[in-house]
Amino acid sequence: MVNVLQLVLSLLPLSGFWDRPQSTLNVLHDAFVHDSVEPPPTEPTKSIAIVGAGSAGLGVLKAILDLPESIREDWEVVLYEQRRAVGGVWLPDPPGYHVEPPEVPETPLYPRLHTNTPHPTMTYPHFPFPPGTPLYPDWEAVLNYHVDFAAHYNLTPHINLNHTVVFAKWHAHDGTGDWHVEVHAQHGEDEDEVVIRRTFDHLIVANGHNHYPHYPTWDGTKGWLANSQQGKPARQILHSVYYREPEKFANLSVIVVGSGASGRDMAQQIEPLARVVYQSIRETKETAPDTTVTPKPPIAYLTNYSVIFEDGTELFDIDAILLGTGYEFRIPFLSSPQSSVLLTDPATSFNSSTAQTLTTNLRYIFPLYQHIFSLAPTVPPTALTFIGLPVLIANCPSDFAQGQIVAHALANASLLPSHDEMLNDLISRERSVSARGYDPYYEGHRLVDGDTEAQDYQDSLVDYLKKNGAIPDDGRKYVEPWRRASRSQAPLLLRAWKRAGKLGEQERWLAGIETEDEWADLMARLAEWQREWENTHPALVASTYSSPEWLYE
Ligand SMILES: Cc1cc2nc3c(=O)[nH]c(=O)nc-3n(C[C@H](O)[C@H](O)[C@H](O)COP(=O)(O)OP(=O)(O)OC[C@H]3O[C@@H](n4cnc5c(N)ncnc54)[C@H](O)[C@@H]3O)c2cc1C
Ligand SMILES: *[C@@H]1O[C@H](CO)[C@@H](O)[C@H](O)[C@H]1NC(C)=O
Ligand SMILES: *[C@@H]1O[C@H](CO)[C@@H](O)[C@H](O)[C@H]1NC(C)=O
Ligand SMILES: *[C@@H]1O[C@H](CO)[C@@H](O)[C@H](O)[C@H]1NC(C)=O
Ligand SMILES: *[C@@H]1O[C@H](CO)[C@@H](O)[C@H](O)[C@H]1NC(C)=O
Ligand SMILES: *[C@@H]1O[C@H](CO)[C@@H](O)[C@H](O)[C@H]1NC(C)=O
Repeated sequence: MVNVLQLVLSLLPLSGFWDRPQSTLNVLHDAFVHDSVEPPPTEPTKSIAIVGAGSAGLGVLKAILDLPESIREDWEVVLYEQRRAVGGVWLPDPPGYHVEPPEVPETPLYPRLHTNTPHPTMTYPHFPFPPGTPLYPDWEAVLNYHVDFAAHYNLTPHINLNHTVVFAKWHAHDGTGDWHVEVHAQHGEDEDEVVIRRTFDHLIVANGHNHYPHYPTWDGTKGWLANSQQGKPARQILHSVYYREPEKFANLSVIVVGSGASGRDMAQQIEPLARVVYQSIRETKETAPDTTVTPKPPIAYLTNYSVIFEDGTELFDIDAILLGTGYEFRIPFLSSPQSSVLLTDPATSFNSSTAQTLTTNLRYIFPLYQHIFSLAPTVPPTALTFIGLPVLIANCPSDFAQGQIVAHALANASLLPSHDEMLNDLISRERSVSARGYDPYYEGHRLVDGDTEAQDYQDSLVDYLKKNGAIPDDGRKYVEPWRRASRSQAPLLLRAWKRAGKLGEQERWLAGIETEDEWADLMARLAEWQREWENTHPALVASTYSSPEWLYE
């Protein structure tokens, strides 16, 4: 099959390819679609490409397949995933894999990663983790969860693994248009790369945003790196996307920068092995709990010999600076030089009302309605959608809520408000972020009011569908009351689970827990058990860490 495709491609003059008659496209189409997909019996009425098989891509794929058969039976839904399996960030490096900057690894996952949120709060609705899963499982449980989800809902036939979307260009015509997409497929190490070029009506971007490292720029960095101390290994500055094993930092003096999940995890894991660990954080933030790392303010600049902090203090003997400084919102396949759909400009002076194209300033992609639908003058809202952009949110449930509104808007574009209404909605969202003292173009897709805003956001998407008759109104909110409650009790639950661990009682708590309701009940009982204990043992409350940090930087 692959060879047929290659042959066909090699016979085609590339320049004329896009205006091939439909019949030729079908030849190509049949030649590459996953073997187990039954080609639609008739010409597809709609073709949809999803990019990415992490939580976001799987969530929207399921939501589309959930549409009534009568609506979607002639749709063609194809998901492209560049890696060897589904799971996104939860899928580890391939065996023996190692990359050095500037190349970026496939995932930021490190072997000792455990979730920092209780898994029942992370789930797609009605699909709990398997019985016996510890409340804060390791990455492998989360990976398997995604694999199981894809298998259980029969998503796999739509998923093309080892398929990298290289570019997607929007060709507008007759008030609508289509996507010209190029995909590179690698079917095995010894096989040649296969180039697929074809068109789609809709593009759904679910490519994740924990991939392109954000580097702070400090004066003096070059000199500091070039002047390692005598008898010590070469100094290094390493972003958390490259962090894997704490052993690499044994006996070294390390500064961890940042107080998000990655900064905290690196500090916790390295501290027992390192000579000394400092954590450089902003005034309002906390150092990693259960450690004795020394807090430092943000770094001001470096000299050949030292690191100087904003309070003027100086450290001379540092061997490594580890950056938990987060990621940039980039989408290469939509941006120059591959495409001109997304303008990438950190210093852009455009805003949501003035932008001529979709724009990313590396922290924020705008203008988008509800973080999902393109409001750029160049691409219609249902032609280009994004899943998984919101930050500070439980991804799977949010991805599925977003997926539902996308699915229904693809089925019926009139479901969406008018372009002007959507743009006004966005501008008032940005104003409200400003009114709360934040810069909307810096905070970007962060839901700055935390869990309440994150839950309300998901409810509002689904309520909208109910109000407009797209899905039946069962009188319930999308975010279940137990999920709301347990997210707000997250720090308490983490302390409870740790205490249960010290008492050797975790297995007892997990015994017999199977259904979503039972998991919800388990969290409620655990929280109560911990609250009572903390009330009677205030001096013993293990950790002073008061707020969970949802930011995976
Ligand atoms: C270190 C770390 C720890 C985390 N811990 C937690 C936690 O404890 N709890 C929690 O709820 N969340 C956690 N998260 C957040 C996590 O990122 C989300 O939960 C979620 O898994 C993100 O899913 P996604 O699908 O949006 O992105 P990703 O998981 O990044 O998936 C995107 C997929 O798109 C693919 N892709 C990208 N570009 C292309 C292309 N051009 N062509 C084809 N495929 C492409 C990628 O290969 C990838 O598989 C953590 C994140 C990180 C980085
Ligand atoms: C994907 O690529 C990997 C590594 O080259 C290979 O082992 C695997 O068989 C490929 N999978 C598919 C579905 O082509
Ligand atoms: C810092 O180190 C660089 C390169 O090692 C050297 O060229 C430079 O002169 C040094 N600067 C100072 C102020 O010592
Ligand atoms: C760290 O130092 C200790 C004590 O000096 C030594 O025993 C150990 O081997 C060192 N570890 C590494 C990885 O260098
Ligand atoms: C966008 O920028 C223009 C021009 O600088 C300005 O007049 C307008 O108020 C801005 N709009 C928003 C919503 O920030
Ligand atoms: C599409 O949505 C609009 C607005 O909600 C509605 O009036 C119309 O009936 C819907 N069309 C179909 C075919 O469902």
